[in-house]
Amino acid sequence: MNIIHVSAECYPVAKVGGLADVVGALPKYQNNSEVSSQVIMPFYDVKFTKENTFTSVFKSKLSLGDSTYKFNILKLEKDVLDFDVFFVDVPNLLFKDYVYSSDDTNRFLAFQIATLDWMLTWKTLPDIIHCHDHHTGLIPFMLQESYKYEPFRKIPNILTIHNAQYQGWFSHNNVNLIPTFNFDHVGLLDWGGNINPLAAAIKCAWRVTTVSPSYMEELKTAANGLESLLSDESAKCSGILNGIDWNVWNPETDNYIIKNYNQKTIVTGKKANKKELCDRFNLDINKPLFAFIGRLVEEKGSDLFPETFKIALKNPNISILLLGSGNKDVENQLETLKEEYKGQYNAFIGYDEKLSHIIYAGADFLLMPSRVEPCGLNQMYALRYGTIPIVRSIGGLKDTVTDISEENGFGICHDNVTVLEMTNAIERGIALYKNQTKFKKTRIQIMKIDHSWDASAKQYINLYNSIN
Ligand code: ADP
Ligand code: GLC
Repeated sequence: MNIIHVSAECYPVAKVGGLADVVGALPKYQNNSEVSSQVIMPFYDVKFTKENTFTSVFKSKLSLGDSTYKFNILKLEKDVLDFDVFFVDVPNLLFKDYVYSSDDTNRFLAFQIATLDWMLTWKTLPDIIHCHDHHTGLIPFMLQESYKYEPFRKIPNILTIHNAQYQGWFSHNNVNLIPTFNFDHVGLLDWGGNINPLAAAIKCAWRVTTVSPSYMEELKTAANGLESLLSDESAKCSGILNGIDWNVWNPETDNYIIKNYNQKTIVTGKKANKKELCDRFNLDINKPLFAFIGRLVEEKGSDLFPETFKIALKNPNISILLLGSGNKDVENQLETLKEEYKGQYNAFIGYDEKLSHIIYAGADFLLMPSRVEPCGLNQMYALRYGTIPIVRSIGGLKDTVTDISEENGFGICHDNVTVLEMTNAIERGIALYKNQTKFKKTRIQIMKIDHSWDASAKQYINLYNSIN
């Protein structure tokens, strides 16, 4: 079976968030003697593309409305990844030093059209096209409706929704950007008066998955306007929990961290990593360290951090460290707090892959007070590194973290995203830290939890088989 994943992100080539981690791991776990899983993604002007060399495997021109763009399909010269990745190079549109920006409509449409135009030249068609998020959401529509892609009508295709908050909306005035199709079916593109690529994909894809079972349920009542559509289409929808890349996120072999460790060496291992963080960020190694890593957006509850931290930091016996970027106002407030709570709080505003690994390894607790969390990978990384997650029970967080008060529980859970509930959860963390016997036992317990991709990768294969 030949599976093609089409995605805007893929680790380690280009990463903004968890989408990259998933697309950079799932193909590895799908590839075996019977399955070949490959990725097609845009060619961006980023570190990875600067550091590697590529050869062109196909050259052509694509039409986007009245404009014509040259494009190239590139392949890595050396096999530096564990699976094949093909890059769509549209120099004037995609080759930028960012993944997302305000010109995404044209950029990702060009990406999708170039991908399908290239596929038209293939001798053997793929068995499955697996699209990820709205950036590839017009593919199921074009496969079904665009005249030029008539040969693709029978290719089974899947949409995975990593985040329904973002839908890629654009105006019907730009409908001519989409390769010509039977205009009687224009309604398939529409949701609420706009062209909505995510909605179009939900309508046209053969199957729709989300990245956790709970998120699938939640979408029926909270999907940023797509609730009724998801309820109507529920027969073809299912939730498959993400896994994590067991090799990349392994404290025993992780090259980014200061000292490697396993369940037996957790005490010294975590201590060395915590020391690195405390030295670098001027924090006290003897106090429990609460950390956050992520995008500073409303979905993650980060707008409540400044107030929550001010209250939590009244207790002189805790430290807080944050790594993230996003909303400028929140960033500024979090920067300002640094002066006020020197020695107790610090933040790195920006993106730093290496630092994130050291934080997963060195922190005692990881905060995830998300308002929306389709799956969440951070909590699973935290578990693997023996860092206790403090989460709001929603989406994938609900499916992966059990409160410590319950049988076999190990994390700290709260129901709502409020300053009060967040500070209470931190208080519960402090109490757990004081009980060092229970704290240490829990750290070992969570390192044993298996969230590798094996089980979920099989679920995807079963789904492909059901429509192939
Ligand atoms: P989302 O995709 O919604 O941002 P996930 O929990 O699925 O959330 O995945 C986030 C991924 O991005 C994780 O690998 C996390 O470590 C990483 N990440 C987020 N922000 C940063 C940052 N500022 N620096 C380094 N890594 C980050
Ligand atoms: C999205 C979601 C996140 C999920 C990730 C990977 O970015 O916000 O919860 O873990 O995709 O599926």
